[in-house]
Amino acid sequence: MSNTQARLPQPVASEQTALKPRQVSFAWDETPLHWIPGDPFSTHTINVLHLLLPAGERWFVHVYKQILPYIKDDDLRADVIGFIGQEAMHAQAHDEVLPHLREQGLDPTPYTAQVDWLFEKLLGDRTLPPGRARKWWLMERVATIAAIEHYTAFLGNWVLNADELDRRQADPTMLDLLRWHGAEEVEHRSVAFELFMHVDGSYARRMRTWATAFGALVFLWQRGTRFFMANDPTLTDRRVSMRTFMERGREGVLPTTGSMARSIPRYLSRSYHPSQEGSTRQAAAYLASSPAATAAEAREKGVG
Ligand SMILES: [Fe+2]
Ligand SMILES: [Fe+2]
Repeated sequence: MSNTQARLPQPVASEQTALKPRQVSFAWDETPLHWIPGDPFSTHTINVLHLLLPAGERWFVHVYKQILPYIKDDDLRADVIGFIGQEAMHAQAHDEVLPHLREQGLDPTPYTAQVDWLFEKLLGDRTLPPGRARKWWLMERVATIAAIEHYTAFLGNWVLNADELDRRQADPTMLDLLRWHGAEEVEHRSVAFELFMHVDGSYARRMRTWATAFGALVFLWQRGTRFFMANDPTLTDRRVSMRTFMERGREGVLPTTGSMARSIPRYLSRSYHPSQEGSTRQAAAYLASSPAATAAEAREKGVG
């Protein structure tokens, strides 16, 4: 353990913060199907989050409850418990968008059933004997979560800065969901990586699980976008292309392919630490003004 900790890249001290879940809720009645006006492709590309995150983030929680006994550092344990609370709320908030899509004629069940199978069966606990095999599989999953969290932080940082979505008058409720979630992803961006370094830290495992996670994310994302575009009852032009994705990236409505490519060597660098990316101050500033987060805080104070 001491060897692992000795090579742990140092976090940026000013980027550390205490984590707490915010019990947000959103009303979807006013949100149009194409919540980025006139742009179903970008709308549905971002909508894939609602397909992947409920099952994915519940899986994070499931895995992290099993890793708690391996944590020997009280501060880290507190961070992991705060992380679990935030991810459980994220899963619920994205899940609550799905009935709204269904009401508008876009039933996500065929896709979410596959995603549920992926996280619950393929990435589930498996019938392994207690001991090395079970621990190996737990560590693989902890490393995989660290890799995925590199991308949730990347996307969180992107959406906090995606002013073009405001200029195009994207739906304010959807923007608040994405930015509240994005801000909490930036806020807790170091937890999964620090946990992985604390319990294992193997560089080979970091590379291996990154490759799997990145490949799976790209595959699931393009498949999810195609699913939405193919099943949206209002569309006549259902084309999905890399070219459109790159164009929207250049316009600022989606992340750019260049920024995504540049994020790869950063995660694989031996000196990587998530606190080097994004800004906790910016995340905190958004959370202090987010309609959903401030309403949640007011409710909490009212109850307390
Ligand atoms: Fe999340
Ligand atoms: Fe997260």
